[in-house]
This record gives sequence, C-alpha cells and structure tokens, in this order.
Amino acid sequence: MKIWKKLTTTEINHRITGALKENTNFKTVKSLGIPASHLDGEVFYDNAPFLEYAPLLRTFVQNPNHIGCHTLGESEAFFAGTQALEREAIELLAKDVLKGDEDEHFDGYIASGGTEANLQAIWIYRNYFKRIYKAEHHEIAIISSADSHYSMPKSGNILNIDWIEVPVEFNTRDIIVDKLNEVVENSKSNGKKYFIVVSNMATTMFGSVDNPNIYVDVMNKHNLKFKMHVDAAFGGFIYPISNTESKVNFLNEHISSITLDAHKMLQAPYGTGVFIARKGLMKYVFTEEAEYVSGMDITVSGSRSGANALSVWMILFTYGPYGWLEKINKLLYRTSWLCSKLDELGVQYFRDPHMNLVTMHAEYIPKVLVTKYGLVPQTHTGDNKWYKIVVMDHVELDDLNMFIKDLSNSF
Ligand SMILES: Cc1ncc(COP(=O)(O)O)c(C=O)c1O
Repeated sequence: MKIWKKLTTTEINHRITGALKENTNFKTVKSLGIPASHLDGEVFYDNAPFLEYAPLLRTFVQNPNHIGCHTLGESEAFFAGTQALEREAIELLAKDVLKGDEDEHFDGYIASGGTEANLQAIWIYRNYFKRIYKAEHHEIAIISSADSHYSMPKSGNILNIDWIEVPVEFNTRDIIVDKLNEVVENSKSNGKKYFIVVSNMATTMFGSVDNPNIYVDVMNKHNLKFKMHVDAAFGGFIYPISNTESKVNFLNEHISSITLDAHKMLQAPYGTGVFIARKGLMKYVFTEEAEYVSGMDITVSGSRSGANALSVWMILFTYGPYGWLEKINKLLYRTSWLCSKLDELGVQYFRDPHMNLVTMHAEYIPKVLVTKYGLVPQTHTGDNKWYKIVVMDHVELDDLNMFIKDLSNSF
C-alpha cells in the first residue's frame, strides 16, 4: 500500500480543515463572479458547536463545487483544497485497490453513481472510435453479459449505439464462450466493427465476476478493434480486497477504465460513484463550448458535490486497508454462514465465494418471506427464477437466522 493508510479522527479533521482553508470561503472572501455560495445559513445552521468535530458536515455547509476533472489540466481555483483530497482518493483507488502501476498516472472523478461512471466510459470509447477510425454509430456496439446492469442499454440509448448482450450459463452465471463467438460473428456480419466491452466485477443480481480475458480472446480471434471497461459498481470495494488473486484490475493491459460505487459497499452518501481511467482517454469527451469554466469540461456531470468526493476520502482513511479488510471479512463471514444454512436446507443458490451476495432459486422461497425480508427478485415482471440477499452492514447473523428459521418452517 503506497497511499492507503489509517488516520486518526484528529488527523482526518486536521486534513479536511486544511483543505477547506485552501478553498474560497464565501463568508470571508469576496467572490462576485461565480454562482456558488455556502449552504443557506437560514436553513443550514453553520454555527452548531458539533461541526467542529464533524469535518464532513462542515464541508457540506461550505459546499465546494468540484465541477470538472481534477487529475488533469487546470481546475477551478476556488476549490483547490478539497480537489486535492479527491485526487488523492482517485490515486489510492487506482493504485492500492485496482493495482495500477506505481509509475502510471490515472484520471478520474467522483461521479453521481455507477450509471454515470459507466456512461462516461462508454461515451469516451464511442468518441474514440469515431475520432480515430472515423467510425459511424451503427458500426460501434457495447457488448456485455446478459447479467449486466441496465446502465449498458441505457448508455447505448443515450449515445445512439447498440448494446449486444451475451448469454450466460443458468447456474454458474459464466459467459458462454460459444455464444459469445456466435454473437460477435453475427454482429460482424451486421456491420459492427468496433466494440466497447464492459466486463462485470460483480453483477447486480448475482455478484458474479466476468473473466475479461474471455472477451480479449474472442475480439482478437475475430480481429476486431475494442476498448474494455470494467463495471465494478457493485464489487469494486470488496472483490479486489477479498480476492487477492484477482486479475480484474489495471494489471490487465486491456482494461482501460473502471467504475466503482462508493454509495454501495462503502456506505457513502448517495450521489457518490467513481470513474477511473488510464491517462490519455478523457480528451475524447472534451466539450470545447464550456468556455466559462476554468479547466476542461470532460465529465458527464457539470457541477458536482465536493463533500461527496471527500466522503470517499474520509471513509477510506478512517478504516485504512486493514480496517477495511476486517469489515469486508465480517460481511463475507455472514454470507458464508447463510450459505451453509441454505446447504443444510438443500436450497440451491449462486454465490461467488469472494462476494457478499447470495441469489437463491425462486422455487424454494415462499412469497410471504419475499415480502417479510425484502428479498429482491431478478424480474418484477414475468417468470422470476431468482431472489437475492445482499449482506450489507445492517444485515446481521440474527436477521439471517430469523430468515433461515422461517424458511425451514415453510418446508
Ligand atoms: C453492477 C452495477 N452497475 C451499475 C449500477 C448503477 O449504479 P447507480 O445506481 O449508482 O447509478 C449498479 C447499481 O446497482 C450495479 O449494481
């Protein structure tokens, strides 16, 4: 670990206080030109004594706008202090979590969530193919497994390119390589030449992790141009830590960018996703018309909350790598416990051993338990075959035990 370490509450308070001091303080500095200010003082009381010990709440009150991307070019000078902490969080994630080379530099920003970060990646690659190969929209496709998040077809819809889904095995949720070959061959004969591959580091419904090299082999076999993004919105803060042998990271030269979602496993406030990319890619989405903003406009979102960005920094440095490992292992322990009880009951399910998600065959689960325990189905319409349990911080062994007791009584 080069950057990631545990800091004390005092050290964190000190670092954030220092960062806020480097930002423009609208209370003391006359800043007439930008449509930005601290939170409304009539509504959000900024003199509460507890704020002294609550640096993130103080950041919310001071309300820095992190518009733009602060890992390259110039940025708005008004918020330089907190932008620096965002940069540190991005570098920590790129290198200490996602194994980026020490000498390599990465770009990235705190997006509004996983959907935006995926859209950002697909936007970059669509424009890359257009710019470098003069590709037409109908020649470019997004390709990912059938278990992918709906932000893939959504991005395709927004960016006017097709999404191609690859079938997976029913029980293992593995990509079916023969089908992938078939789908790619068909797409090729339908005029697709450029592929934006999105490999999952944990799917929403199953927590299954794709092997990105399956795509690499098939793309190379068919002599196709491709760019690869990893959607780690669900697994990004757990899988790279729980599976030390994981190859789904920046050690794989074909992986150009990765999405993470801090408002899931990291329990950051909603509106906190993460987009990280290798250098040299952000320029494909540069909006030249954004003349009034200092720095380059190269992100899907415009204005965005600096406080949300700091929440990522603060959570990572509060736990440190070992504290986080312990937290993840607690969740994995509970998940394994649940699986052992399901085994005893003979209930079939899918679980990746490095993930905190268990997806049970629907035929074992009575409807009354679905409602009582808020289980999530694979589909709300049609023939649902699966229900999932996500073992988050609040899902304790006592809760799981109650569920197991009810389930066993239902047989
Ligand atoms: C794998 C995956 N990708 C993307 C998303 C979208 O994330 P968000 O809701 O933060 O936009 C989710 C959300 O569940 C997800 O599980």
